[in-house]
Amino acid sequence: MLARHFAQCCGSMHYWRWLLRTLSILLCASLMLACTAQPTREDLAYSVPQTESSQHHTVALLGASGMVGGYLLEAALGRGYTVRALARNPAKLARFSNRITIIKGDARDPAVIRELLHGSDAVISALGPVKADGDASHFINTTVTRNILEAMPAEDISLYIAVSGAAVVMPDDNRNLLGWWIRTLAQIGLRGALQDKQAEYALLADSTVDWILVRCPLIEPKPFDEPPLVSLQTPPAFQLRAGALAQFIMEQVETREFIRQGPFLGSSKPAN
Ligand SMILES: NC(=O)c1ccc[n+]([C@@H]2O[C@H](COP(=O)([O-])OP(=O)(O)OC[C@H]3O[C@@H](n4cnc5c(N)ncnc54)[C@H](OP(=O)(O)O)[C@@H]3O)[C@@H](O)[C@H]2O)c1
Repeated sequence: MLARHFAQCCGSMHYWRWLLRTLSILLCASLMLACTAQPTREDLAYSVPQTESSQHHTVALLGASGMVGGYLLEAALGRGYTVRALARNPAKLARFSNRITIIKGDARDPAVIRELLHGSDAVISALGPVKADGDASHFINTTVTRNILEAMPAEDISLYIAVSGAAVVMPDDNRNLLGWWIRTLAQIGLRGALQDKQAEYALLADSTVDWILVRCPLIEPKPFDEPPLVSLQTPPAFQLRAGALAQFIMEQVETREFIRQGPFLGSSKPAN
């Protein structure tokens, strides 16, 4: 009798509407909880560091024609760096052409990477898969990072900083609910890109160079407003301003505070 009543309920539209509504409320509540969760004081491993003069330093920049790379380029020039930027289509960097050296080429070509790195003190990559490239973009970050690691010793460069994703796993992670959500969403929606970024990390971990993998959540094309939140254990927010990321990376060129680590970044205030 009870079992028949339960079966009738489960079969009705009313039951499925109720179930859907309950699941939606639970999902929204946990997302809101996760998004408002701030890291503890111990998580905030980063404070605004003292900067050194960067006047005689040269950085090699990949992905300068992209969203994040554009902010990095502005930040590097703003701090007085000499910039060597890679571009498949130099016209995309035309407005910087009298202020930077543009190396034309594709980052999958090891000879292009060697030319880009020549005379640089550090390498920064905001290169990522581009939809228009189709299959050619599969494992692009792993391929390019391998080329960079091979070229670095010959050019006597020790520092490589790459923009990565907050879903990438490292041994000392201790993710909170937000961190778990970010990873789960990436596993569902960005599986190929995540596998690429994870393999890129494995390459770096096996290398002997000084690297920093900056693990980012959703990056918003917004200028710097305040230093980002930083944690070595879990993403501190669901979003990050590109301007804050760019300033953080340029500070790392100077301070090398997170060598061979993967700091998670986030911006405390969502952009308007
Ligand atoms: N946007 C986000 O919310 C987010 C979040 C977490 C992590 N990330 C990571 O951050 C990085 C930058 O993201 P983004 O949003 O700035 O990407 P984006 O705007 O699509 O820029 C990608 C850049 O990579 C370059 N590129 C791609 N393939 C290349 C190749 N074979 N040779 C030379 N250059 C190549 C593109 O050059 P062209 O102009 O020639 O195409 C472009 O400059 C990526 O690694 C991404 O996975 C992004």
